[in-house]
Amino acid sequence: MDSRPVGVFDSGLGGLTTVRELRTLLPGERIVYFGDTGRVPYGTRSRETIRRYAMQDVSFLLSKGVKLIVIACNTASVALDGETLPVPSVGALLPAVPAACRATVNKRVAVIGTPATVRSGAYEKALLQADPSLSVLTVACPLFVPLVENGFTAPDDPVTRLVAEKYLTPVREFGADTLILGCTHYPVIEALIASVMGEGVFLINSGREAARAARELLLSRDAAGTGPGDCRYYVSDSTADFAENARAILGRDVSGQVERVNIESY
Ligand code: DGL
Repeated sequence: MDSRPVGVFDSGLGGLTTVRELRTLLPGERIVYFGDTGRVPYGTRSRETIRRYAMQDVSFLLSKGVKLIVIACNTASVALDGETLPVPSVGALLPAVPAACRATVNKRVAVIGTPATVRSGAYEKALLQADPSLSVLTVACPLFVPLVENGFTAPDDPVTRLVAEKYLTPVREFGADTLILGCTHYPVIEALIASVMGEGVFLINSGREAARAARELLLSRDAAGTGPGDCRYYVSDSTADFAENARAILGRDVSGQVERVNIESY
């Protein structure tokens, strides 16, 4: 047993979908979450900038004495690829790959993510390494992140649906039976994405797979927390806006647990 907290970070709200999974899988864990709400989005920036931001996010979490870092942001996971951190870490990207390989029957797998994630080719590479017989299509969906950050998340939201139709039409035409939600913001609009994709397409939530990988890692090291479990939230912009949007994702009020930090000082 290791009572130190687990650190989780994302460019904004999206990583809360991973926190939701972690709270279910590891209820005895203390979690420290950092959402870089002042600098979101990451996915439209250069790799150097994303890496610099992500390293500052890591430094902040290390200052909280975390035992493990869950890089809930796919975009940051790609930018930090090859980086050795002072504590063990779990990225958002790799755990989704075996899940997709298990799920697909027709061997056609699609991935949606930020422009930076898609541009990196990291999902394609990892999927084809795991199963060379796959056909892989990756599609960037940059407008999903601001829509989620601004609360356009209802399953019948007409604006988000229009954007989803535009982005997902090539995925439908490609005939994928498995779609990786390769950005932690996307599970917030999972119901809408599922309805645009239609029946028979299996959606893989990369945040859920990362949470499962984090659980396995902690259990294998006998380091899972066994306390009452709690979560503290830190953001780089308005705490009130974050708390309001977090309520929709987590299903409870976290307003007393959110603090603002100056991330540029890390
Ligand atoms: N949620 C992040 C991801 O998983 C990135 C969103 C963004 O800041 O562009 O890729």
